[in-house]
Amino acid sequence: MTAAEKILQIDTLRVDSDRDGQSVPIVRDMSMNVAQGELFCLVGESGSGKSVSALALMGLVQRQKGIRVSGSVRYKDEELITGDIGRFASIRGREFAMIFQDPMSSLDPVFRIDEQMKEALRRREKLSAAQERERIAELLTLVGISDVDRCLRQYPHQLSGGMSQRVMIAMALACRPDVLIADEPTTALDVTIQAQILGLLNRLRHETGMTIVLITHDMGIAAQVADHVAVMYAGRVVEQGTPEELFAQPQHPYTVGLLASIPRLDGPKLDLLPAIPGGVPDPKSLPSGCAFHPRCPAATERCQREDPPLAPVNGRPVACWHAEHVAQHGADFSESEHA
Ligand SMILES: Nc1ncnc2c1ncn2[C@@H]1O[C@H](COP(=O)(O)OP(=O)(O)OP(=O)(O)O)[C@@H](O)[C@H]1O
Ligand SMILES: [Mg+2]
Repeated sequence: MTAAEKILQIDTLRVDSDRDGQSVPIVRDMSMNVAQGELFCLVGESGSGKSVSALALMGLVQRQKGIRVSGSVRYKDEELITGDIGRFASIRGREFAMIFQDPMSSLDPVFRIDEQMKEALRRREKLSAAQERERIAELLTLVGISDVDRCLRQYPHQLSGGMSQRVMIAMALACRPDVLIADEPTTALDVTIQAQILGLLNRLRHETGMTIVLITHDMGIAAQVADHVAVMYAGRVVEQGTPEELFAQPQHPYTVGLLASIPRLDGPKLDLLPAIPGGVPDPKSLPSGCAFHPRCPAATERCQREDPPLAPVNGRPVACWHAEHVAQHGADFSESEHA
Protein backbone atom coordinates (compact mmCIF):
# COMPACT_ATOMS: atom_id res chain seq x y z
CA MET A 1 0.00 0.00 0.00
CA THR A 2 1.59 3.31 -0.99
CA ALA A 3 1.25 6.41 1.19
CA ALA A 4 -1.16 7.96 -1.33
CA GLU A 5 -3.48 4.96 -1.12
CA LYS A 6 -3.70 5.05 2.65
CA ILE A 7 -6.68 7.14 3.57
CA LEU A 8 -6.54 6.29 7.28
CA GLN A 9 -3.30 5.50 9.05
CA ILE A 10 -3.89 4.44 12.61
CA ASP A 11 -0.79 4.17 14.76
CA THR A 12 -0.72 2.97 18.37
CA LEU A 13 -4.17 4.36 19.06
CA ARG A 14 -5.00 3.95 22.72
CA VAL A 15 -8.14 4.69 24.70
CA ASP A 16 -8.10 4.64 28.50
CA SER A 17 -10.97 5.31 30.83
CA ASP A 18 -10.72 6.36 34.44
CA ARG A 19 -12.94 4.14 36.52
CA ASP A 20 -13.00 4.25 40.31
CA GLY A 21 -9.65 5.99 40.37
CA GLN A 22 -8.12 3.31 38.15
CA SER A 23 -6.95 3.78 34.56
CA VAL A 24 -8.59 1.08 32.45
CA PRO A 25 -7.25 0.30 28.95
CA ILE A 26 -10.16 -0.11 26.51
CA VAL A 27 -8.27 0.09 23.23
CA ARG A 28 -4.62 -0.88 23.35
CA ASP A 29 -2.09 0.15 20.76
CA MET A 30 -4.23 -0.26 17.68
CA SER A 31 -2.27 0.09 14.47
CA MET A 32 -3.67 -0.44 10.99
CA ASN A 33 -3.89 1.20 7.59
CA VAL A 34 -7.07 1.55 5.59
CA ALA A 35 -6.67 2.04 1.84
CA GLN A 36 -8.70 4.46 -0.26
CA GLY A 37 -11.90 2.82 -1.52
CA GLU A 38 -11.57 -0.43 0.37
CA LEU A 39 -13.96 -2.19 2.67
CA PHE A 40 -12.09 -2.78 5.88
CA CYS A 41 -13.68 -4.99 8.52
CA LEU A 42 -13.07 -4.85 12.23
CA VAL A 43 -14.17 -8.18 13.70
CA GLY A 44 -14.38 -9.40 17.27
CA GLU A 45 -16.70 -10.61 19.98
CA SER A 46 -18.87 -8.38 22.10
CA GLY A 47 -16.79 -6.23 24.43
CA SER A 48 -13.59 -6.41 22.38
CA GLY A 49 -13.50 -2.62 21.88
CA LYS A 50 -14.80 -2.25 18.32
CA SER A 51 -17.29 0.55 19.01
CA VAL A 52 -14.91 2.50 21.23
CA SER A 53 -12.24 2.33 18.49
CA ALA A 54 -14.76 3.58 15.93
CA LEU A 55 -15.84 6.43 18.19
CA ALA A 56 -12.19 7.37 18.69
CA LEU A 57 -11.68 7.43 14.91
CA MET A 58 -14.66 9.77 14.65
CA GLY A 59 -13.31 11.94 17.46
CA LEU A 60 -16.42 11.26 19.50
CA VAL A 61 -15.17 9.31 22.49
CA GLN A 62 -12.66 12.06 23.32
CA ARG A 63 -15.46 14.29 24.50
CA GLN A 64 -16.50 11.95 27.27
CA LYS A 65 -15.41 12.65 30.79
CA GLY A 66 -12.68 10.40 32.12
CA ILE A 67 -11.62 9.17 28.67
CA ARG A 68 -8.10 9.67 27.35
CA VAL A 69 -7.11 9.04 23.75
CA SER A 70 -3.52 8.89 22.57
CA GLY A 71 -1.59 7.74 19.53
CA SER A 72 -2.14 8.90 16.00
CA VAL A 73 -4.83 8.78 13.34
CA ARG A 74 -3.86 10.34 10.03
CA TYR A 75 -6.53 11.04 7.45
CA LYS A 76 -5.08 11.85 4.03
CA ASP A 77 -1.88 12.90 5.80
CA GLU A 78 -3.62 15.14 8.30
CA GLU A 79 -3.28 14.29 11.99
CA LEU A 80 -6.66 14.03 13.69
CA ILE A 81 -5.94 13.00 17.27
CA THR A 82 -3.32 15.53 18.25
CA GLY A 83 -4.22 18.09 15.58
CA ASP A 84 -6.65 20.99 15.73
CA ILE A 85 -9.99 20.00 17.28
CA GLY A 86 -11.97 22.42 15.13
CA ARG A 87 -10.41 21.04 11.97
CA PHE A 88 -11.21 17.47 13.08
CA ALA A 89 -14.83 18.49 13.68
CA SER A 90 -15.12 20.04 10.24
CA ILE A 91 -13.62 16.98 8.50
CA ARG A 92 -15.92 14.75 10.52
CA GLY A 93 -18.97 16.79 9.57
CA ARG A 94 -18.27 16.81 5.85
CA GLU A 95 -16.16 13.83 4.95
CA PHE A 96 -16.85 11.16 7.56
CA ALA A 97 -20.14 9.54 8.37
CA MET A 98 -20.98 6.96 10.95
CA ILE A 99 -23.77 4.46 11.26
CA PHE A 100 -24.10 3.91 15.00
CA GLN A 101 -24.68 0.53 16.54
CA ASP A 102 -27.75 1.81 18.32
CA PRO A 103 -29.79 3.71 15.70
CA MET A 104 -32.09 5.25 18.28
CA SER A 105 -29.19 7.05 19.94
CA SER A 106 -28.52 9.06 16.81
CA LEU A 107 -32.05 9.77 15.65
CA ASP A 108 -33.53 12.83 17.33
CA PRO A 109 -36.82 11.79 18.97
CA VAL A 110 -38.51 15.18 18.51
CA PHE A 111 -38.14 15.53 14.74
CA ARG A 112 -39.87 13.66 11.95
CA ILE A 113 -37.64 11.58 9.65
CA ASP A 114 -38.26 14.12 6.89
CA GLU A 115 -36.54 16.91 8.88
CA GLN A 116 -33.65 14.69 9.87
CA MET A 117 -33.01 13.49 6.32
CA LYS A 118 -32.95 17.09 5.07
CA GLU A 119 -30.54 18.06 7.82
CA ALA A 120 -28.22 15.22 6.80
CA LEU A 121 -28.34 16.24 3.13
CA ARG A 122 -27.54 19.85 3.92
CA ARG A 123 -24.29 18.93 5.61
CA ARG A 124 -22.68 18.43 2.23
CA GLU A 125 -24.63 20.25 -0.47
CA LYS A 126 -27.24 22.88 -1.07
CA LEU A 127 -30.16 21.65 -3.15
CA SER A 128 -33.52 23.07 -4.19
CA ALA A 129 -36.59 21.78 -2.32
CA ALA A 130 -37.54 19.59 -5.29
CA GLN A 131 -34.01 18.19 -5.58
CA GLU A 132 -34.01 17.46 -1.85
CA ARG A 133 -37.28 15.54 -2.09
CA GLU A 134 -36.00 13.55 -5.03
CA ARG A 135 -32.69 12.71 -3.38
CA ILE A 136 -34.35 11.69 -0.11
CA ALA A 137 -36.76 9.40 -1.93
CA GLU A 138 -33.84 7.93 -3.85
CA LEU A 139 -31.84 7.28 -0.67
CA LEU A 140 -34.72 5.71 1.23
CA THR A 141 -35.62 3.52 -1.73
CA LEU A 142 -31.99 2.49 -1.97
CA VAL A 143 -32.06 1.10 1.58
CA GLY A 144 -35.24 -0.85 0.90
CA ILE A 145 -37.96 1.43 2.27
CA SER A 146 -40.97 1.01 0.02
CA ASP A 147 -43.44 3.53 1.47
CA VAL A 148 -41.20 6.59 1.45
CA ASP A 149 -43.92 9.18 2.20
CA ARG A 150 -45.17 7.30 5.22
CA CYS A 151 -41.63 6.86 6.58
CA LEU A 152 -40.88 10.58 6.17
CA ARG A 153 -43.96 11.56 8.20
CA GLN A 154 -42.98 9.39 11.15
CA TYR A 155 -41.10 10.14 14.33
CA PRO A 156 -38.23 7.78 15.26
CA HIS A 157 -40.23 5.99 17.98
CA GLN A 158 -42.81 4.99 15.37
CA LEU A 159 -40.25 3.04 13.34
CA SER A 160 -39.36 -0.60 13.89
CA GLY A 161 -35.74 -1.46 14.75
CA GLY A 162 -35.03 -2.54 11.20
CA MET A 163 -36.66 0.57 9.70
CA SER A 164 -34.72 2.94 11.93
CA GLN A 165 -31.50 1.17 11.06
CA ARG A 166 -32.26 1.64 7.37
CA VAL A 167 -33.06 5.31 7.90
CA MET A 168 -29.72 5.69 9.70
CA ILE A 169 -27.91 4.15 6.76
CA ALA A 170 -29.72 6.45 4.31
CA MET A 171 -28.80 9.44 6.48
CA ALA A 172 -25.16 8.44 6.64
CA LEU A 173 -25.06 8.11 2.86
CA ALA A 174 -26.85 11.44 2.37
CA CYS A 175 -23.73 13.52 2.86
CA ARG A 176 -21.78 11.40 0.36
CA PRO A 177 -19.02 10.62 2.85
CA ASP A 178 -15.47 9.82 1.82
CA VAL A 179 -15.19 7.52 4.81
CA LEU A 180 -18.14 5.61 6.22
CA ILE A 181 -17.77 3.92 9.57
CA ALA A 182 -20.58 1.42 9.96
CA ASP A 183 -20.91 -0.13 13.42
CA GLU A 184 -22.92 -3.36 13.14
CA PRO A 185 -25.23 -1.76 10.57
CA THR A 186 -27.25 -4.88 9.90
CA THR A 187 -27.70 -6.59 13.26
CA ALA A 188 -31.35 -5.54 13.68
CA LEU A 189 -32.26 -6.65 10.15
CA ASP A 190 -33.41 -10.00 8.87
CA VAL A 191 -30.98 -11.93 6.67
CA THR A 192 -32.52 -10.91 3.34
CA ILE A 193 -32.35 -7.20 4.13
CA GLN A 194 -28.93 -7.71 5.69
CA ALA A 195 -27.66 -9.17 2.42
CA GLN A 196 -29.27 -6.29 0.49
CA ILE A 197 -27.65 -3.64 2.69
CA LEU A 198 -24.23 -5.25 2.54
CA GLY A 199 -24.59 -5.54 -1.23
CA LEU A 200 -25.62 -1.89 -1.36
CA LEU A 201 -22.62 -0.71 0.69
CA ASN A 202 -20.34 -2.77 -1.49
CA ARG A 203 -21.83 -1.35 -4.68
CA LEU A 204 -21.70 2.22 -3.44
CA ARG A 205 -18.06 2.09 -2.64
CA HIS A 206 -17.28 0.71 -6.09
CA GLU A 207 -19.38 3.43 -7.69
CA THR A 208 -18.28 6.35 -5.53
CA GLY A 209 -14.84 5.34 -4.25
CA MET A 210 -16.12 5.67 -0.67
CA THR A 211 -13.97 3.93 1.94
CA ILE A 212 -15.87 1.77 4.42
CA VAL A 213 -14.83 0.59 7.86
CA LEU A 214 -17.38 -2.07 8.73
CA ILE A 215 -17.62 -3.32 12.28
CA THR A 216 -19.10 -6.71 12.91
CA HIS A 217 -18.94 -9.59 15.36
CA ASP A 218 -19.73 -11.93 12.47
CA MET A 219 -16.68 -13.39 10.76
CA GLY A 220 -19.00 -14.76 8.07
CA ILE A 221 -20.00 -11.23 7.03
CA ALA A 222 -16.38 -10.06 7.05
CA ALA A 223 -15.38 -12.99 4.88
CA GLN A 224 -18.07 -12.17 2.33
CA VAL A 225 -17.48 -8.47 1.83
CA ALA A 226 -14.13 -7.32 3.22
CA ASP A 227 -10.94 -6.50 1.35
CA HIS A 228 -9.07 -6.53 4.64
CA VAL A 229 -9.94 -7.80 8.08
CA ALA A 230 -8.53 -6.80 11.47
CA VAL A 231 -9.44 -9.23 14.22
CA MET A 232 -9.81 -7.56 17.62
CA TYR A 233 -9.59 -9.14 21.03
CA ALA A 234 -9.66 -7.40 24.42
CA GLY A 235 -8.95 -3.97 22.94
CA ARG A 236 -6.15 -5.10 20.63
CA VAL A 237 -5.79 -6.06 17.01
CA VAL A 238 -4.51 -9.63 17.15
CA GLU A 239 -4.36 -10.51 13.45
CA GLN A 240 -4.81 -8.87 10.08
CA GLY A 241 -5.12 -10.06 6.54
CA THR A 242 -7.39 -10.49 3.57
CA PRO A 243 -10.29 -12.92 4.12
CA GLU A 244 -8.53 -15.34 1.77
CA GLU A 245 -5.34 -15.22 3.84
CA LEU A 246 -7.22 -15.64 7.11
CA PHE A 247 -9.19 -18.60 5.81
CA ALA A 248 -6.21 -20.26 4.16
CA GLN A 249 -3.86 -19.87 7.10
CA PRO A 250 -5.14 -18.29 10.32
CA GLN A 251 -2.17 -17.56 12.57
CA HIS A 252 -3.88 -16.52 15.81
CA PRO A 253 -5.85 -19.13 17.79
CA TYR A 254 -8.64 -16.58 18.27
CA THR A 255 -9.02 -16.22 14.49
CA VAL A 256 -9.09 -20.01 14.23
CA GLY A 257 -11.96 -20.05 16.75
CA LEU A 258 -13.90 -17.29 14.97
CA LEU A 259 -13.56 -19.06 11.63
CA ALA A 260 -14.68 -22.35 13.13
CA SER A 261 -17.85 -20.72 14.39
CA ILE A 262 -19.04 -19.84 10.86
CA PRO A 263 -21.71 -22.33 9.78
CA ARG A 264 -20.79 -24.09 6.53
CA LEU A 265 -23.17 -25.84 4.21
CA ASP A 266 -20.44 -27.97 2.68
CA GLY A 267 -18.98 -29.10 6.00
CA PRO A 268 -19.95 -32.00 8.24
CA LYS A 269 -23.27 -31.64 10.03
CA LEU A 270 -22.62 -30.79 13.66
CA ASP A 271 -25.13 -30.54 16.46
CA LEU A 272 -23.26 -27.60 17.85
CA LEU A 273 -20.75 -25.30 16.15
CA PRO A 274 -17.41 -25.32 17.90
CA ALA A 275 -17.30 -22.21 20.05
CA ILE A 276 -14.46 -20.52 21.83
CA PRO A 277 -14.95 -21.28 25.51
CA GLY A 278 -15.34 -18.39 27.94
CA GLY A 279 -15.81 -14.70 27.17
CA VAL A 280 -13.90 -11.47 26.49
CA PRO A 281 -12.34 -10.24 29.74
CA ASP A 282 -13.39 -6.97 31.33
CA PRO A 283 -10.73 -4.36 30.50
CA LYS A 284 -10.57 -3.61 34.23
CA SER A 285 -9.21 -7.05 35.02
CA LEU A 286 -7.25 -8.21 32.00
CA PRO A 287 -5.39 -11.50 32.41
CA SER A 288 -1.61 -11.28 32.67
CA GLY A 289 0.50 -11.78 29.54
CA CYS A 290 -1.56 -12.46 26.42
CA ALA A 291 -5.17 -11.51 27.26
CA PHE A 292 -6.40 -14.51 25.26
CA HIS A 293 -4.35 -17.13 27.14
CA PRO A 294 -7.10 -18.34 29.55
CA ARG A 295 -9.24 -19.33 26.54
CA CYS A 296 -6.48 -20.54 24.27
CA PRO A 297 -5.79 -24.22 23.57
CA ALA A 298 -2.27 -23.35 22.41
CA ALA A 299 -1.29 -21.28 25.46
CA THR A 300 1.96 -22.01 27.22
CA GLU A 301 3.61 -20.61 30.31
CA ARG A 302 5.17 -17.77 28.30
CA CYS A 303 1.69 -16.64 27.20
CA GLN A 304 0.71 -16.22 30.85
CA ARG A 305 3.71 -13.97 31.46
CA GLU A 306 4.35 -11.90 28.33
CA ASP A 307 2.00 -10.05 26.03
CA PRO A 308 3.03 -10.76 22.42
CA PRO A 309 3.56 -7.74 20.15
CA LEU A 310 1.67 -7.36 16.87
CA ALA A 311 4.46 -8.30 14.48
CA PRO A 312 4.68 -9.80 11.01
CA VAL A 313 4.66 -13.57 10.74
CA ASN A 314 4.67 -14.98 7.20
CA GLY A 315 4.21 -11.38 6.03
CA ARG A 316 1.06 -10.62 8.07
CA PRO A 317 0.66 -8.86 11.44
CA VAL A 318 -0.25 -11.21 14.26
CA ALA A 319 0.07 -11.02 18.05
CA CYS A 320 0.77 -14.57 19.20
CA TRP A 321 3.91 -16.25 20.49
CA HIS A 322 2.90 -19.43 18.69
CA ALA A 323 1.74 -17.95 15.39
CA GLU A 324 4.14 -20.07 13.32
CA HIS A 325 2.89 -23.23 14.99
CA VAL A 326 -0.79 -22.22 14.66
CA ALA A 327 -0.24 -21.37 10.98
CA GLN A 328 1.15 -24.87 10.39
CA HIS A 329 -0.96 -26.99 12.72
CA GLY A 330 -4.00 -24.92 13.74
CA ALA A 331 -5.45 -24.66 17.25
CA ASP A 332 -8.08 -27.16 18.19
CA PHE A 333 -10.79 -25.76 20.43
CA SER A 334 -12.73 -29.02 20.50
CA GLU A 335 -9.91 -30.56 22.53
CA SER A 336 -9.42 -27.50 24.69
CA GLU A 337 -9.21 -28.37 28.36
CA HIS A 338 -11.17 -25.16 29.00
CA ALA A 339 -14.13 -26.28 26.85
N1 LIG B 1 -17.57 5.32 27.40
C1 LIG B 1 -16.99 4.30 27.98
N2 LIG B 1 -16.33 4.47 29.14
C2 LIG B 1 -15.73 3.43 29.74
N3 LIG B 1 -15.74 2.17 29.29
C3 LIG B 1 -16.39 1.93 28.15
C4 LIG B 1 -17.06 2.99 27.44
N4 LIG B 1 -17.63 2.45 26.34
C5 LIG B 1 -17.34 1.12 26.37
N5 LIG B 1 -16.60 0.82 27.44
C6 LIG B 1 -16.04 -0.52 27.77
O1 LIG B 1 -15.08 -0.84 26.79
C7 LIG B 1 -15.14 -2.22 26.41
C8 LIG B 1 -15.33 -2.33 24.93
O2 LIG B 1 -16.63 -1.86 24.59
P1 LIG B 1 -17.15 -1.71 23.08
O3 LIG B 1 -18.53 -1.16 23.18
O4 LIG B 1 -16.17 -0.97 22.27
O5 LIG B 1 -17.19 -3.22 22.61
P2 LIG B 1 -17.70 -3.80 21.22
O6 LIG B 1 -16.58 -4.61 20.67
O7 LIG B 1 -18.24 -2.73 20.37
O8 LIG B 1 -18.85 -4.80 21.69
P3 LIG B 1 -20.30 -5.10 21.02
O9 LIG B 1 -20.05 -6.16 19.97
O10 LIG B 1 -21.09 -5.65 22.16
O11 LIG B 1 -20.85 -3.85 20.47
C9 LIG B 1 -16.28 -2.81 27.24
O12 LIG B 1 -15.69 -3.47 28.34
C10 LIG B 1 -17.09 -1.62 27.68
O13 LIG B 1 -17.68 -1.85 28.93
MG1 LIG C 1 -20.10 -2.27 19.66
